[in-house]
Amino acid sequence: MQDEIINKINEKYAQLGENPDTYLNGLLQAKPITYWDYIEVDTLLSLQKPRTNFADEEIFIMYHQVTELFLKLMLHEVKQIVLAEVFTEELLKNKLVRLHRYTQMLINSFAIMKDGMDYNDYNVFRATLAPASGFQSAQFRFIEIYCTPLVNLINAAGKERLPENPSIENYFENIYWKDAGINRKTGNKTLTLRLFEQKYLEDFIALAKKLEGKTLADRFAQLTNVSTEVTDLLKEFDHLYNVVWPMTHLNTARHYLDSKNENQQATGGSEWKKYLHPQFQQRKFFPALWSTDEKSNWGTEQ
Ligand code: HEM
Repeated sequence: MQDEIINKINEKYAQLGENPDTYLNGLLQAKPITYWDYIEVDTLLSLQKPRTNFADEEIFIMYHQVTELFLKLMLHEVKQIVLAEVFTEELLKNKLVRLHRYTQMLINSFAIMKDGMDYNDYNVFRATLAPASGFQSAQFRFIEIYCTPLVNLINAAGKERLPENPSIENYFENIYWKDAGINRKTGNKTLTLRLFEQKYLEDFIALAKKLEGKTLADRFAQLTNVSTEVTDLLKEFDHLYNVVWPMTHLNTARHYLDSKNENQQATGGSEWKKYLHPQFQQRKFFPALWSTDEKSNWGTEQ
């Protein structure tokens, strides 16, 4: 067995034009890998840098970081679906099951935000965060761009503003999330939106161009004789990501910003009560799978 491995190592490095002895010596000297080095524990645990002395600010930072890691896990799955050379129903099913698990995890853990922080402390330390807002989470937008053609990210009012034969840039001018920070009459944008666009808009446009006709929804439409199991999984993912998470998040915003009818301004400055509601956003990744009734009742059940 050992001879076989040594032979394979010799072959591998011979093919690379390298001397296998050098690498075997390296192996002999190398320190054993440890959990803390492999997982980068020290780096990970050094990333929480509160801006105030309120103890719960660390919870706020860490939960956002946990969410970004989960969004990265989701992007990892979505990319494998969209970029797969061979796209099959089986692949889609396996990845969708994972996507559900991650989205459920985000929904089920959101109580860490809603009930797990001191109400008064949060309402003080959050002032130091303006104009930053979860709105500026780019991974949240990348998932959308991978999942669906841009037209599905434009609400009814936005569709009326679109020119005939819209370009990718036209779509981004009218995408639902812009409504969080633009005055459509004057064109003025909040600092939150301006900074977000300066950092990411080019990347969003480049990705949308690369994925034209190849998003998850497009790839799904090319499958034939799809089982209802997979169709239901897609619908459930759409509902979890675009209705259940947004409502869980909105209820948390209501808890901190409006539970005493104080209608507080959010750090990102949006008209958040309206903007964050799935009925206003009308965001659906797979609208072709929903009936007219289901679409008009989008987000009304909670
Ligand atoms: C106390 C907890 C939270 C409150 C009160 C809150 C509040 C808000 C508000 C009011 C907005 C609207 C934009 C603005 O004007 O700032 C927003 C947007 C957003 N927040 Fe949060 N948020 C909280 C936690 C989180 C967490 C933990 C995440 C995870 C990354 C997150 C992600 C987002 C995203 C992705 C948006 C944009 C949503 C969209 O465009 O549909 N938020 N948040």
